[in-house]
Amino acid sequence: AFPKQVRLVEMSPRDGLQNEPGPVIATAIKTGLIDRLADCGLTHIEAASFVSPKWVPQMGDAAEVMAGIHRKPGVCYSALTPNLKGFENALAAGVDEVAVFGAASESFTRKNINCSIAESLERFAPVVEAARNHGIPVRGYVSTVMGCPYEGDIAPAKVAEVARALYDMGCHEISLGDTIGVGTPLKAKRMLDAVAAHVPVEKLAAHFHDTYGQALANLYAVLEDGVAVIDASVAGLGGCPYAKGASGNVATEDVLYLLNGLGINTGVDLNKLVATGHWICQQLGRHNGSKVGQALGGN
Ligand code: HMG
Ligand code: MG
Repeated sequence: AFPKQVRLVEMSPRDGLQNEPGPVIATAIKTGLIDRLADCGLTHIEAASFVSPKWVPQMGDAAEVMAGIHRKPGVCYSALTPNLKGFENALAAGVDEVAVFGAASESFTRKNINCSIAESLERFAPVVEAARNHGIPVRGYVSTVMGCPYEGDIAPAKVAEVARALYDMGCHEISLGDTIGVGTPLKAKRMLDAVAAHVPVEKLAAHFHDTYGQALANLYAVLEDGVAVIDASVAGLGGCPYAKGASGNVATEDVLYLLNGLGINTGVDLNKLVATGHWICQQLGRHNGSKVGQALGGN
């Protein structure tokens, strides 16, 4: 059965902007985006990434972004933290939640965070431990859950293994990333079934990129199986620097339109969200990747 309520986790300030080509986007644009998203009623915004600026230059101003936003009470502002150094910086910047990010593919893990899957888990353990000591919740990502740009098909059992390791380590929520958007609904269901045998479905989030236009269909499939947390990016912004050709997360506007149609509550205002999508596209000189955004216009 469908959930009555879904929590949308907004990815655009992080997943959306991390891969933007060209000069580093002004901090004021990033904070303007985050404040507008909070005003739409989104309660969880991935605001920044405390990674190496050599690896991801667009996220180099993470601390300035965190300092520049207007915190709205009740909103969780989270950030990626691949290691202890990232965690310390995120803590100093006052993030509400951090996230470690692994993958179900050895090659992708190597390209993305320069280590093996086993090493990544060893590296995350002290981050989760430090976060626990500071009362900061940790989210765990698993990338390449329905396919890898280097290895092709990924076994659902491998996804389940990594998801379970992150959950057992203390991550309160596991976000399942179709990094390159290659999944289709039955594949999504099979993958979810395998993971849900090890991690309660209430603890799982769907993080689907829309490269092949399947993300909404895949979301519908996993919603039916009880997933109630969905990652999305306004205007479909984004991609992954270590997954060539990958397009952004599914557009938040499109997910919200789907959920509204299903009578599933989110607390997010569609008109404000559409306006925010057009605003950020205008700032970036970028095409709006949301069908709903295009249909409803921006003015
Ligand atoms: P490394 O080179 O192996 O790390 O990178 P290192 O420990 O050897 O350090 C190298 C240099 O980086 C040193 O500086 C460190 O101080 C510095 P130097 O001595 O050369 O001047 N450094 C840092 N600086 C700032 N913050 C840090 C940090 N750590 C080290 N936290 C590392 C390993 C993990 C750091 C690197 O590979 C990295 O930053 N990777 C980030 C990759 C990334 O952000 N990818 C995109 C996000 S994941 C994603 O998009 C997928 C997701 O959306 C889900 C999905 O769609 O599937 C989540
Ligand atoms: Mg992603």
